[in-house]
Amino acid sequence: MSNQSITMEEIVSLCKRRGFIFQSYDLYGGLQGLYDYGPLGCELKKNLKEAWWQDMVYSRHDVEGIDGSILTHKQALKYSGHEDTFTDPMVDCKDCKFRMRADHIDGKCTNCGSTNLTEARDFNLMFKTHYGPVESTDSTAYLRPETAQSIFTNFKNVLDATSRKIPFGIAQIGKAFRNEITPRNFIFRVREFEQMELEFFVKPGEDDTWHEYWIKERLNWWQQQGINPENLVLEPQKKDDLSHYAKATTDILYRFPHGLEELEGVANRTDYDLGSHTKNQAELNIQASVKDNPDSISKLQIQTPGEKPYIPFVIEPSAGLDRGVLALLVDAYCKETLADGKQRTVLKLKPSLAPIKVAVIPLAKNNPEIVAIAKEITESLQALKIGRIRYEDTGNIGKAYRRNDEVGTPLCITVDFETLEQEPKTVTIRHRDSTEQIRIDYLEITSYIQSQLN
Ligand code: GAP
Repeated sequence: MSNQSITMEEIVSLCKRRGFIFQSYDLYGGLQGLYDYGPLGCELKKNLKEAWWQDMVYSRHDVEGIDGSILTHKQALKYSGHEDTFTDPMVDCKDCKFRMRADHIDGKCTNCGSTNLTEARDFNLMFKTHYGPVESTDSTAYLRPETAQSIFTNFKNVLDATSRKIPFGIAQIGKAFRNEITPRNFIFRVREFEQMELEFFVKPGEDDTWHEYWIKERLNWWQQQGINPENLVLEPQKKDDLSHYAKATTDILYRFPHGLEELEGVANRTDYDLGSHTKNQAELNIQASVKDNPDSISKLQIQTPGEKPYIPFVIEPSAGLDRGVLALLVDAYCKETLADGKQRTVLKLKPSLAPIKVAVIPLAKNNPEIVAIAKEITESLQALKIGRIRYEDTGNIGKAYRRNDEVGTPLCITVDFETLEQEPKTVTIRHRDSTEQIRIDYLEITSYIQSQLN
């Protein structure tokens, strides 16, 4: 089934029913643009994050990781350009007072249809707060609108601590916040989300080549996560659409149920950010010694003996984790008719991303021998530390298989009466995608499961 025939309603319903994603504070009527990840959603999200960190940091020789603070210095976001330019155009409906993004409508109020709208004006998307016990303009801080800025402001710290040479990158996964005018399409456009960002520092002049390299790498990576290549499209941004810091950006678009939309952006940010933060120090005389000794400014630049110092250029692959989760769910979602004519919904997630790796099912939950063996198998699989193993004694076997298909569990192990009768003992293993069932020796379970999940 092509994902174009999957509706967002089907995905939202599955997510709520099976415990992937819930509307935040639905008990109080909900908070628009905010979602909570439930028992299975938090596993899927964690698995996707780990896959990113594994491939972007551990499997490379040229990337370090950081984990920066969410509260952000006001000056950092002034010099990054966010205070002045991180805005969306907003209009109000004069009749029903509804507020909308001007670039998302066709001249009519999306709430009541009226054409009686205000002129568009800029609305800054950053969430403002205060740190410390006194609220004043001096105590203003922002929740970060992108994780990138703490990478730039830590550039020199990381460089000094690791003695890295150009080219190298700094990676970070973490929350970002944007007060979107119209959050919509489930977890696609929300006000609190996570980003997986890499800032890769290169020599000016080598930036175009590295930009191409990262576009290819990132496209391949999404395909390696199991996403159908036909649902991924590269789209270079038009000059007029570029962010204030970018020389060029190519978006990786995914065919979401609501349309072909951005999953990740790969930008050439030039020396804009490191240059701006260096300028900031010079202008504000942040270091006491700067006034008398301008050379003491902590310049965010590369100084190699025998070479003129320079500010490196930055290539930035920036992916939305929540959009990644949504893309995985949509891409894996299948409705099938089985050989026996029965319908099933199945999430064909890559095993490494599946929230539950194995479900262990005792065929008769009132039979102490069957239960004891099923629990023993569960514990031996948990001891492998390969992720979540679910002991499942709710409902009949058919329902247990359907429930596990629907949440993407790659393998189910069933302990039945044959297990008790045979020596050596055997169990049934059912494969999610083929629904094929095989019997294997009880003693071979752990090695079989490990080989299948790899
Ligand atoms: N540091 C660069 C940057 O933040 P961006 O294109 O604004 O660039 C990067 O954001 C990624 O973050 C997007 O490709 C998207 O996946 C995700 N993202 C941005 N705004 C979002 C929102 N309101 N809700 C969910 N994800 C969002």
